[in-house]
Amino acid sequence: MASGGRRAGKTGGRRRCMIITSIIVALVVIALAIGLGVGLGRDHGGGSSSGSSSASPASGTPLPSPPANGSIYQPAVNSTWQIVLQNPINVSTTITPHVDVYDIDMFTNPQSTIQSLQQAGMKVICYFSAGSYEPSRPDSGDFQAADKGKELAGWPGEYWLNLNSTNVRQIMVKRMQLAAQKGCDAVDPDNVDGYSNDNGLGLTQQDSIDFVQFLAEHARNLSLAIGLKNAGDIVQNVLPVVQFSVNEQCIHYSECATFAPFVAAGKPVFNIEYPSGAGSTIAVEKYQTICTDSGNAANSTDFSKVMKTMDLTGWVEYCNGSVFDTSMSSS
Ligand SMILES: *[C@@H]1O[C@H](CO)[C@@H](O)[C@H](O)[C@H]1NC(C)=O
Ligand SMILES: *[C@@H]1O[C@H](CO)[C@@H](O)[C@H](O)[C@H]1NC(C)=O
Ligand SMILES: *[C@@H]1O[C@H](CO)[C@@H](O)[C@H](O)[C@H]1NC(C)=O
Ligand SMILES: *[C@@H]1O[C@H](CO)[C@@H](O)[C@H](O)[C@H]1NC(C)=O
Ligand SMILES: *[C@@H]1O[C@H](CO)[C@@H](O)[C@H](O)[C@H]1NC(C)=O
Ligand SMILES: *[C@@H]1O[C@H](CO)[C@@H](O)[C@H](O)[C@H]1NC(C)=O
Ligand SMILES: *[C@@H]1O[C@H](CO)[C@@H](O)[C@H](O)[C@H]1NC(C)=O
Repeated sequence: MASGGRRAGKTGGRRRCMIITSIIVALVVIALAIGLGVGLGRDHGGGSSSGSSSASPASGTPLPSPPANGSIYQPAVNSTWQIVLQNPINVSTTITPHVDVYDIDMFTNPQSTIQSLQQAGMKVICYFSAGSYEPSRPDSGDFQAADKGKELAGWPGEYWLNLNSTNVRQIMVKRMQLAAQKGCDAVDPDNVDGYSNDNGLGLTQQDSIDFVQFLAEHARNLSLAIGLKNAGDIVQNVLPVVQFSVNEQCIHYSECATFAPFVAAGKPVFNIEYPSGAGSTIAVEKYQTICTDSGNAANSTDFSKVMKTMDLTGWVEYCNGSVFDTSMSSS
């Protein structure tokens, strides 16, 4: 689909079970986290899986020298940001708002757009879907039938992906290589929470942890920062290897405490809320619910909040009351 974007809302209705499971998982996971390390996705030496050494999805990819940690973009807590996924943005005139960082579609925005943002003093996070098949991406033909599980509820033509698949992982490495080539500062890999959805593949939280660790190691070797999108259950597992959180609706669902460990670790939470009225006029009480760090928004102090429409157009309102409409290209 040419319109890409609109990730938002994809996760919105499916996340109510998250808090309950996250409490259980947090206990298990703290212990596991120590042992996981960054080797995931590579061959584990035959210990845990039943035999096949082809389980190393990284095989065949180049191994650049790891960059010094300081060369990877670490956005500051409370960074200002904008996210536009529906269409590529149009940078032919002054880009507004001027914020610390833009999150834009990795495929549809040309390298020149990324350079324009950077020349204007902004950083660029490049969005792609890592855990779902989308039919109209340039590399969609590289997926195999066996990689796909169930269709995503509400997103016709889009399917959950088997995060264990060597083929899927190779495609995602290529996507990150493209992000690096285009000069992105960071990547925002979406749909890494298949485990909390009817995915048709039996995906587990552990599969997501392994997958995000795998993505993070490759991102790191490509000098790209990487975020965790939603997936609150695995925050504690992957926090050490990601540089930020991108979260949808933690205020609406009263689950910002799940993501607050990012802020405590000096890493920002880029939070998106979809209040009714977004796109024109948000009611004062909704604005206050989001922008006052109490009630549903408890534990969202220093989150980087934007109020958006679910189709993630250029429209945005900030908690200082300013509204902008970033220019988008027509397609
Ligand atoms: C990343 O770089 C390190 C250090 O060179 C290397 O050991 C590791 O295998 C690389 N990982 C990947 C996934 O390329
Ligand atoms: C976070 O940003 C807001 C708005 O830019 C500002 O008012 C606030 O003081 C900042 N907080 C910190 C801890 O820097
Ligand atoms: C509100 O925040 C946005 C985003 O950081 C910024 O571009 C804008 O200038 C701010 N507005 C005011 C009135 O400070
Ligand atoms: C992924 O691989 C792990 C380890 O081999 C296995 O435990 C898990 O069941 C696999 N998950 C899926 C969805 O195939
Ligand atoms: C670099 O970051 C990794 C985590 O990505 C961490 O394990 C390591 O200790 C860091 N190294 C330095 C020198 O800070
Ligand atoms: C905020 O965090 C505190 C301390 O962790 C916790 O007791 C409280 O329940 C949290 N509030 C919400 C609404 O999550
Ligand atoms: C970008 O905006 C300029 C100025 O409004 C306009 O002339 C141009 O057609 C737009 N480009 C696209 C691809 O929409």
